[in-house]
Amino acid sequence: MSVGIDEISFYTSNYFLDLKNLAEMQQIDADKYYQGIGQEKMGMPAPDEDVVTMAANAALPLIERVGADAISTVMFATETGIDQSKSAGVYVHRLLGLTANCRVVELKQACYSATAAIQMGCALVARQPEKKVLVIASDVARYDLDTPGEATQGCGAVAMLITANPRLVEIDAEVGNHTEDVMDFWRPNYRSTALVDGKYSTKIYLRSLKLAWENFREASSLAFNDFQHFCYHLPFTRMAQKAHKHLARVNQSELSPESLDLQLEDTLIYNRIIGNSYTASMYIGLVSLLENGKQNLAGSRVGFFSYGSGCVAEFFSGKIVAGYEKYLHRDRHQRMLEARNEVSYDEYLKLYNDVDPTDGGEHLKGAGTTGRFRLAGIAHHKREYIAC
Ligand code: CAA
Repeated sequence: MSVGIDEISFYTSNYFLDLKNLAEMQQIDADKYYQGIGQEKMGMPAPDEDVVTMAANAALPLIERVGADAISTVMFATETGIDQSKSAGVYVHRLLGLTANCRVVELKQACYSATAAIQMGCALVARQPEKKVLVIASDVARYDLDTPGEATQGCGAVAMLITANPRLVEIDAEVGNHTEDVMDFWRPNYRSTALVDGKYSTKIYLRSLKLAWENFREASSLAFNDFQHFCYHLPFTRMAQKAHKHLARVNQSELSPESLDLQLEDTLIYNRIIGNSYTASMYIGLVSLLENGKQNLAGSRVGFFSYGSGCVAEFFSGKIVAGYEKYLHRDRHQRMLEARNEVSYDEYLKLYNDVDPTDGGEHLKGAGTTGRFRLAGIAHHKREYIAC
């Protein structure tokens, strides 16, 4: 019996800023963003949208297919927690109509925790193969204005069903880990924006990649050349290109521009126009690969490098299942991306500053989310979510 990802769906906001507008305001060359960090657009959540509504929007199509009764556990990965105590997943549990017998928990370790959720989900399913685990990763990447991180903001959520004999990706048991107490990126409880030592964070990312890979090699017989594709954590797409070249060097492998393109580029298409979505970003990269792959990917071996600042990193592997293409949500995803509204720089600033409505969302009329769920307001310190 194999275990892994049976179905995958993602959601992002209906608003985005083209980074050429940010570059224009900053009086710099737009190619610093388009080429230098490899990002074109960044998603901005509507004021009545947060990790809960994005997560419910991502998961709804999966629940509509399998039925609410089918889910035994929800694991909600995020580093944009809305409450220090209550799991964001419990709100999603109600919005999706899941059963009272379904367990729900939130996991945190920067951008890494969705990978922990998947590994734990696989372990649960290996023990009870009739169970289905819903893993959701949902985040809003926010940095201070006028900082180097600003252009790497974004938002998105991904929902994955973890099952026995999955229809999309079989996950191998062997993993490589690297954990180290470092301060490359963090967000203290009293801040709504992350702090980051940007250059240092990219160094730690690459070091963790090497060390997690070496640990993986001790556990697995798979070598660099056994992989046809690689999905990396995607704070910005250029980071993955640097990482892949780094891993090739570590393995003393020739990496021609054609191989780099074949092994990586299809994973970057969606993130380049969504931006960083922290826990969700590598898995949106996987969707991008599955939905934009130039050839049929059945049987391809994929290497995954999941990185969460602070830091915990994991390299693991998976195999794409024959017939996978029948179970994708490609058309819906592409329609959603095409239907987004571009905002001006001034509108972006308004969205940036307009979070957590306390007036019952009254000021949002006509300017809110187009998703199926919204944050209706916050009253008496309680967040109220509704279906639209
Ligand atoms: N045309 C083409 N390229 C240009 C250019 C132009 N006109 N102008 C500059 N560039 C290039 C630069 O040469 C540079 O390329 P190299 O990296 O190859 O040297 C690239 O654009 C970026 O330029 P800078 O190094 O000057 O950029 P910066 O210092 O202003 O910001 C950053 C870069 C530090 C990564 C910043 O975006 C940042 O702080 N981001 C947030 C932190 C982050 O994402 N870290 C990643 C690892 S941590 C992680 O992965 C967890 C997470 O999700 C946050």
